[in-house]
Amino acid sequence: MTEDTADLSPADRAKRAAARRSVDFVRDGMKLGLGTGSTAVFMVRALAERVAAQGMDVTCVPTSEATARLAGGLGLRLSTLDAVGRLDLTIDGTDEFDPRLDLIKGGGGAHLREKIVATASDRMIVIADPAKQVATLGAFPLPLEVVEFGWQVTRRLVAELLADHDLLGQTVALRMAGDAPARTDQGNLILDLHLGRIGDARALSLALNQIPGVVENGLFLDICDMVIVGHPDGRVDIH
Ligand code: 5RP
Repeated sequence: MTEDTADLSPADRAKRAAARRSVDFVRDGMKLGLGTGSTAVFMVRALAERVAAQGMDVTCVPTSEATARLAGGLGLRLSTLDAVGRLDLTIDGTDEFDPRLDLIKGGGGAHLREKIVATASDRMIVIADPAKQVATLGAFPLPLEVVEFGWQVTRRLVAELLADHDLLGQTVALRMAGDAPARTDQGNLILDLHLGRIGDARALSLALNQIPGVVENGLFLDICDMVIVGHPDGRVDIH
């Protein structure tokens, strides 16, 4: 099934262009990590189309329950990370990327599984629309997956850490889904760190993950190998 682009917004046409280009990097026999989010949805659809058209044999590890439902429904063969052990390639979206190809991810709350899967992959390709490109990470709120037990204490420790990193006065907000706290696929909570600008992303990432109660932060540092930026007219740039 080929999608009709007439009804898509310019941002969605850009996401779709990047997504469609990314599946050109898939080879027969590959073990693939499938990302999460609206850009990844276009990629999963394009992948299913290509696999069916060319009779390719690929095995997919989804990074969320939502992606698993979509990919399984489109006939892609699914497996688990533990069953395949190592992946050839992961293709995923992002919320921001900088000139080093460092990322902020987790706008969809899936960054824990996304980071585990990307780290287990020989290669990570990120697909994006032009709005995701930034000079310095941090305008997009940095997601932190935290366990529910003692989460308010965890939030206080995070706020204290931000002050130590000269990020004093920035807000740490519990992510909501309507009237209730948003939950990850693991059943955990998400704190969104409104930082504005992240100076030393490496130091911040290490320090955040040392706080008991923090499961994982949304900084992807030295993990992404290539970013494909799509444009509404169908062109793509490769970074
Ligand atoms: C989900 C993610 C997504 O990749 C990120 O939020 C980008 O989403 P979209 O493609 O919808 O803009 O990290 O946890």
